Amino acid sequence: MKKLFIIGLGNMGMAILKGIIPQVLKEEDVSVYDVDKGRLRPFLNSKTEVVDTIEDGVKNAENILLAVKPQNMEDVLKEMSGAVSERNLVISIAAGVTTNYIKKILGGNAKVARVMPNLCISVGKGTSACCFGSNCSDEDKQFVDSLFKAVGITLSVDESKMDIVTAISGSGPGYLFKIMEILIDMGKKEGLSEEDSEKLVYQTVSGAAALAMNSNISAGALREKVTSKAGTTEAALKIMDEYRIEEMFREAIKAAVNRAKELSKE
Ligand SMILES: NC(=O)c1ccc[n+]([C@@H]2O[C@H](COP(=O)([O-])OP(=O)(O)OC[C@H]3O[C@@H](n4cnc5c(N)ncnc54)[C@H](OP(=O)(O)O)[C@@H]3O)[C@@H](O)[C@H]2O)c1
Repeated sequence: MKKLFIIGLGNMGMAILKGIIPQVLKEEDVSVYDVDKGRLRPFLNSKTEVVDTIEDGVKNAENILLAVKPQNMEDVLKEMSGAVSERNLVISIAAGVTTNYIKKILGGNAKVARVMPNLCISVGKGTSACCFGSNCSDEDKQFVDSLFKAVGITLSVDESKMDIVTAISGSGPGYLFKIMEILIDMGKKEGLSEEDSEKLVYQTVSGAAALAMNSNISAGALREKVTSKAGTTEAALKIMDEYRIEEMFREAIKAAVNRAKELSKE
C-alpha cells in the first residue's frame, strides 16, 4: 500500500513531490498519475510507481493528493469515486474547490483536506493554509502538515477563510512580481544593467521580508523606521499616497476575493 498517490504532476504536484522525497516519504511510498504521459517519464526509472489509471492508484494508496486544475476536478473525482473508501484521505490543492463539493462527488464518508499553497513551494518557501473536513483525524492533519512543511510553512484555517488566503498568499507572489518588475525596469531606465537591477530588487524584497519576520515590530512600524524626515523614502511614499496606493491595494484584494468566490465550486 502506497502512502501517497499524486494525481497531476504539473507545477504544483511536481514541486510537492520534489519537496517530500526523501524528507517525508521514500520514493517507493509514492505513486503518480497524469494524463500528460510526458510528465511521468522521469519516474519510469525510479522507485516511484507510475500507475495506469486513477482507479488503480486510489485502490493501492492511503492518501491521495489532487493537484489538477479546478476545471479538471469533476472528472478526476468521478473517476476515483468508485475506488475511494473511508480509509482514504483526499487532499486537494485546487483553488476554490470546497471540501463539500469534493464530498458530494466522492460520497459522504470521504475524509477530505483542502490546502491553499503558493508557487513558492517550488523553492521550499511556500505558504500553505490547510483546512480539514470534520471526519479527519489528528493523524490525517499531521500527515498533511508534514507534506506541506517540507516545502515551506503551514497554518491551519477555517474553510470560510480560504478566499482571503487565496487573495493574500495564493495570488500574493503575483503582486510582488509586479512590484519587482516595475523596480527592475526603473533601475534599467536609469542606467543599471538588467543583472544589477534584478540583484538589487530581489535581495531587497527578500531582505525586507526577512527583517519583518525576524523583528518584533509591525510592518507599519518598520516602514516608519526606514522613512527619515525629508528623505528619499518619504518622497516616494508621498507620491504613492497621492496615487492612493492603499485604496488601490484594498480594491485589488477585494477583487481577488470576489473572483475566488465566483470560481468556487461548492
Ligand atoms: N500554480 C499556483 O500558483 C497555484 C497556487 C495554489 C493552488 N494551485 C492549484 O494547484 C492545482 C495545480 O496547478 P498547477 O499550476 O500545478 O497546474 P498544471 O501545471 O496545469 O498541472 C496540472 C497537471 O494535471 C494534469 N491533468 C489534467 N487533467 C487531468 C486528469 N484528468 N487526470 C490526471 N492529470 C490531469 C495536467 O495535464 P494537461 O496539462 O495535459 O492538462 C497537468 O499535467 C490547481 O488546482 C491550482 O488551483 C496552484
